[in-house]
Amino acid sequence: MALRPFGDPELLGRMSRIIRQHSTNARDVREVLLEGLALPDARQVLDLGCGFGFWSEALARRVSGAARFVGVDVCAGTAEAYVERLRAAGREAQFVCRDLSSAVLDWPSASFDVIIAGYSLYFFPEVLPEVARLLVPAGVFVGVTHTQQSCRDLLAVVGLAEDDPGLVELIGRFSVENGARELERWFVQVQRVDYENSLVFSRGHFDELWDYLCFVLEVALATGRRGFEQLLYYETKVRAHLADLQEVVFRKDDAAFVCRSPRWP
Ligand SMILES: C[S@@+](CC[C@H](N)C(=O)[O-])C[C@H]1O[C@@H](n2cnc3c(N)ncnc32)[C@H](O)[C@@H]1O
Repeated sequence: MALRPFGDPELLGRMSRIIRQHSTNARDVREVLLEGLALPDARQVLDLGCGFGFWSEALARRVSGAARFVGVDVCAGTAEAYVERLRAAGREAQFVCRDLSSAVLDWPSASFDVIIAGYSLYFFPEVLPEVARLLVPAGVFVGVTHTQQSCRDLLAVVGLAEDDPGLVELIGRFSVENGARELERWFVQVQRVDYENSLVFSRGHFDELWDYLCFVLEVALATGRRGFEQLLYYETKVRAHLADLQEVVFRKDDAAFVCRSPRWP
């Protein structure tokens, strides 16, 4: 099922800007999490849940000019933006629209040198055996995700601790806390790289906080199939909770798992 917020490149760009603008960590998350990843010989790169190419763009700076990118996403709305973004980075790219939660992918075994899933694997953790199969033996898989604790933190500071629409459970399908355990079934080497961050919104920016929250809640609600009308209920509750606050601060910690030596299924 395509999630509505992910089909809108403008909205995604706006969310990226809000996150950057309110982060305490001044470094780009991609720079930190991909630091030291040398991929000069990589020719085939697969981006799972690619969106508009946030992670492919960063990888493009680390692979040779001959590398070709394939971005896969259930949401076709970002296809053009994905290919365009890679073209602007000087790389050829193809977009494939498909649901990654259905088990078997079409490519032959050992088709890719690098596979990345940035902020997406919790939507389709079922794909991991296929990731191991599709990677060449010397290849690398990078899975980027959030901490469940950050999600709890966010809900608590906006007054929704008791009303989680399924966010903690969604991220819990592949989170910083449990990612290594799941990945070690499919890779011999799993190394974790942390990105510590908090988001700070002062009172004058509470509208941006609400926009960000709305995006997050909408994704969690859709995944939980509980309907969008519930957002109205959340909005009333959050606005009442924020009424007396001057500032909202919450953790937004992410990590990448860099995985090598796939165990072929
Ligand atoms: C949080 S976004 C991350 C997008 C991009 N990787 C980034 O970091 O900007 C998650 C992406 O996963 C995609 N997605 C969710 N469920 C999917 C599924 N079952 N199959 C394929 N893609 C899916 C969404 O459409 C969305 O583009």
